[in-house]
Amino acid sequence: MKIKILMVCLGNICRSPLAEGILKSKLDANKYTVASCGTSSYHIGSKPDLRSIAIGAKYNIDITNQRAAQFTIDHFKVFDHIYAMDNSNYQNIIKLANNDQDKNKVKLILDELYPNNNLDVPDPYYGGEQGFEDVYQMLNKACDSIVNTLEELY
Ligand code: 4NP
Repeated sequence: MKIKILMVCLGNICRSPLAEGILKSKLDANKYTVASCGTSSYHIGSKPDLRSIAIGAKYNIDITNQRAAQFTIDHFKVFDHIYAMDNSNYQNIIKLANNDQDKNKVKLILDELYPNNNLDVPDPYYGGEQGFEDVYQMLNKACDSIVNTLEELY
């Protein structure tokens, strides 16, 4: 059975699609499944934001085939590790957890780099291009750390 990792943001069009694409590029697809979704229903079925597609393409990460989906309680059954992009997403996921086993799957993604600092990956949606570059750099570092964590675990 593959190890399954889920990246979660609000809309599933800016941050978590990039996080999915970046982590996928660093892991063996035979061993790991990586997916993403959003806590909101705002963009269900949409392609990633063009600015996320562009910053991904700059670093050879193709996210054009992704389509936005909403987080549901069923995701707890499927996924082993759930990474929230910010504290608001984290709280919205935790609200849906059935038990401690579910809760223990959920982590703030930047806690991988800065444990217990509770830092957010800032929402770049209403900002400019630089915001997407900043998000990419943060997620790339966080995903390197996730790879190390996973290699220790499995
Ligand atoms: P994301 O960014 O959560 O990184 O996908 C957002 C995308 C859309 C909205 C908010 C954040 N929105 O309000 O539509």
